[in-house]
Formats: sequence, C-alpha cells, structure tokens
Amino acid sequence: MNQPSGNKLPHVTTRRMLDMKERGEKIAMLTGYDYTMARILDRSGVDAILVGDSASNVFAGHNTTLPITVDEMIYHAKAVVRGAQAETSRAMVIVDMPFMSYQLSPEDAVRNAGKIMKEHECDAVKMEGGKVIAEAVKRITDIGIPVMGHLGLMPQSIYKYGSYKVRAMEEEEARQLMEDAKIIEEAGAFAIVLEKIPSKLAGEVSRSLTIPTIGIGAGSECDGQVLVINDMLGLSTDFRPRFVRRYADLSTVIEQAVKSYVEDVRSNSFPSEDESY
Ligand code: KIV
Repeated sequence: MNQPSGNKLPHVTTRRMLDMKERGEKIAMLTGYDYTMARILDRSGVDAILVGDSASNVFAGHNTTLPITVDEMIYHAKAVVRGAQAETSRAMVIVDMPFMSYQLSPEDAVRNAGKIMKEHECDAVKMEGGKVIAEAVKRITDIGIPVMGHLGLMPQSIYKYGSYKVRAMEEEEARQLMEDAKIIEEAGAFAIVLEKIPSKLAGEVSRSLTIPTIGIGAGSECDGQVLVINDMLGLSTDFRPRFVRRYADLSTVIEQAVKSYVEDVRSNSFPSEDESY
C-alpha cells in the first residue's frame, strides 16, 4: 500500500514563481510521468513537475510527441498529482496540452484545457507557440486556468522544422521569438519555456519579460531550468544532446540489478530461507 507522508509544505503557485523571478531565485523544474517518480521529485524539492508530452517519447516509445492524446496525458497527470500529494505537496504540477488539442480553435483549446484541469488537481497547462495561439492562451487564462508558454524549438512542430537543431540562430527568427514571447506574456501566460535557443537570446527574452522563463538548452540566463527526467537520470541511453547534464547512470544500475536477479533465479539462490514463509 502507498503510504502518504505527513510533511506538507506550502504549494508552489504562479504567484510564487513570479516572486522567485523578482527575487532572482532560480526555478528548478523536471518532467515526471508516474506516481513513484513524482513522489521522489516532490520530496527532493523541485519547484515544479512538468507532465510533458515527452511521455510520448520516453514512456510510449514514439519517435515524436505528436501521437500522445489528451486522455493519455490525463492518465499520466493523475498519477503525478497523486504522487506529489502523497509527499510534501509542494511542487506545482503543469500538464502539456498535446498536439491538436488547442490548435483547431480557441473554443477547442478551452474545452481541452478545462478537461485536463477538471479530471485531476493539476495547477496549469503548457502550450507551444506564439502569436498563432495567443487568442487560445487568452481565453484559457481568462477562465482561470494558468498557462505556461513554450517557444524556440517546439517539438510538436518537428515536421515543419525537419530537425531538432538549435532554433532562432538567424536574426529574423530571433526577432519573431522576442515578439512572440511578449505576445504570450500579454495573453496572460505566467511563465514561458525556452527550448534550444542561443543563451544570449534567452537572456534578452528573460530580461524583457516580467514572467519567468524556464530554459532547456537555452543557457544559464533563464529564470529557471527544466530537463526530461529520463535524460538527466541516464535512463535514456540513445539521446545525448549537449544541454543534458547526466546526474546518474540509472540505465547501468538497473541493468546490473536485473542481471543479478536473473542469475540468482537461475542458480536457485533467490529466494533464500529468510525471503520465504
Ligand atoms: O514535453 C516536455 O518534456 C517538454 C520539455 C522538453 C520542456 O516540453
């Protein structure tokens, strides 16, 4: 049975994130997709857990984030919220709106954001895009749902880009990104993820906004950082971009543990008398 911890802490809110930016305190966010990991993340002190649509890659094994559905995101989100609530309940939980859940019309976007918020107690949704989704961001925030934006490399547009290379290297794209960041802030977003853009540009965007920026592959001048949990723990072995710092090599640890188990079962040294009834 899962045992809830009794040590509750003040929950990180959108207001707290803005205060952190004002005070120059960096925001630490990681992705999470399941109950067990969410418990570990919350009790380790992350400020926010992003239920990323990267679940499509690292959980379901798809090549892109495009196939994951609203219902699948809700399944992951429910597990993460339960995990964080079982620990200190401090971490904010933000859920990615998947591809085609907000691009058709602002009405459709509101309906899907509402469904995501209603089916579990998460804190906010995240959406990729600039000007083209501004109306949807405004409508969603107007009805009380906090929105985190996402600019730079937007994985839901991978077929348009044709590669995962660094974005906004050219002046025109950098100018467009600066403008989009302003538009998304004005539409009501409480924070913006900046993915895989030059550090200098990320610094300029961060200084030009009152809301925090959370970088991934965007250098140290962002107001916070996010990494995909499977990458930083070394669970994914075939994805090694230079912006990922590996804090552990869990793939090797798990492989060695499983090999030992297989050996013990085959040699009949597991279970021992102490491990039997
Ligand atoms: O889905 C995801 O994991 C993300 C992060 C890369 C920011 O959007």
